[in-house]
Amino acid sequence: MTLATDQAFTLESPRTITPVPYDGVLDEPVQPCSRRFAPLPAPDLTYTPAVEAAVGHLYEKMAHAIPRIEWPVHAPYIKAINELKKQRGAVILAHNYQTPEIFHGVADIVGDSLQLAKEATNVEADIIIQCGVHFMAETSKLLNPEKTVLIPDMKAGCSLAASITGADVRALKAAYPGVPVVAYVNTSADVKAEVDICCTSSNAVQIVESLNTDKVIFLPDQYLARWVASQTNVDIIAWRGACEVHERFTGAELRDYKKMDPSIKVIAHPECPPDVIAEADYTGSTAGIIDWVTNHKQGRVLMVTECSMADNVAEAAPEIEFVRPCNLCPHMKRITLPKILDTLLTMDGEVLIPPSMAERARASVEAMVNLKN
Ligand code: 13P
Ligand code: SF4
Repeated sequence: MTLATDQAFTLESPRTITPVPYDGVLDEPVQPCSRRFAPLPAPDLTYTPAVEAAVGHLYEKMAHAIPRIEWPVHAPYIKAINELKKQRGAVILAHNYQTPEIFHGVADIVGDSLQLAKEATNVEADIIIQCGVHFMAETSKLLNPEKTVLIPDMKAGCSLAASITGADVRALKAAYPGVPVVAYVNTSADVKAEVDICCTSSNAVQIVESLNTDKVIFLPDQYLARWVASQTNVDIIAWRGACEVHERFTGAELRDYKKMDPSIKVIAHPECPPDVIAEADYTGSTAGIIDWVTNHKQGRVLMVTECSMADNVAEAAPEIEFVRPCNLCPHMKRITLPKILDTLLTMDGEVLIPPSMAERARASVEAMVNLKN
C-alpha cells in the first residue's frame, strides 16, 4: 500500500486510549421494555421428531460448519426462536460475523454494517432483534426511533467504538477547526452526534470524497483510515483506534501461507494493518468479501477476517477451499441462540438513546444512508 503523499496522513493520539465500555446508559427515565411487553413462558427445548420436522431442512445450510452431533442442541432453539419472533412481530437482523446457527438458522436479514443500516430503514416489524454488537443496534435504533430495538447481550461492544468518546471528537474539532469529520459506524451514538457524516468499510472512500474538501478527520480506525488514504488524494487525520480482532493478523503469517501455495488468494478486511493489506488480492467490507468469493467460486482462499465469515459464506461457494487463520471477535460471540431466545421471552435488552443525542447522531447516519451512488 502506498500513500498519496507523505503529508497525507496524520495520526492523532491526544491521550492514551483506555477503552470505555459503552453500554448505552440513559440519563432519562424510560419505561422498561420488559414492562411494556408481558414475559412469555419458556418453551420445551427437547429435541424431538416434531422439532426435526420443523427445522431439519435448515441444517443443510450449516452442515459444513456444524457437526451433526451438535444439531440436536441447536434445533430446539431455532424452532422456538422462529416461532416466538412471529408471535412477537419481531425481525432478526444479523451481521456476517454471527455464528452459522444464527446466520442460517434464525436471521431474517443478514449483511455487513451498511446493508444492515439500510435494511433497518425498510423493516416493517415493530421489534428489531439486533444480532451483532451494540453500535449496530444503536444504528438501527437511530434509523427507527419509533421501533423497539433489542440486543441479546448489552455487553457486546467493539474495541473501535470503545476507543473514542464524544469529548475526544470535540477536542479534535477544536484542534482542526473547519475540517469535516467522518466517523466509521463502529462508534457510539455519543460520537456520531459530534460528526458530519458516517461511513462503513463499504463506502468509506466514497464518503470521504463526497465532502469535496482537501482534508478530513477520519475516525476511529487508524488502519481503515490508512487504507482510505491509499485510495484518495484527500489528506487524512486519523485517530489511534484499532479493531482488536483484525490488528492481530500480520503480513509475515500471510507470506508464509503464500510460500506454501503461491496460487492462494488473500482476502482481507480493511481494518487489518497495512502490512496485511499489502499482501491482499482483495480488500473490502464483509459484504465485499462475500461478493468476491461468490464471483470467484473456486480455488484456495485465505480469509483474513473474523472466523464466522468463512463458515457463513461457504454455503454459497462450496467449490472454494477456505484457509482460516481467523481470529474470533469476542463481542460478536456474546450473541448466542439461548440469549436470543431469552430476549424474545423477557424483552430485556432494549437499546435506548437520549433524544437530544439521537437527533444529532441520526443526522450523520442518514447523511451516509442517503448519499447517492
Ligand atoms: P463490515 O461493515 O465490513 O461488516 O464490518 C463491520 C465490522 O465490525 C468488522 O469488524
Ligand atoms: Fe469491533 Fe473488530 Fe469486533 Fe468488528 S471485529 S465488532 S471492529 S472488535
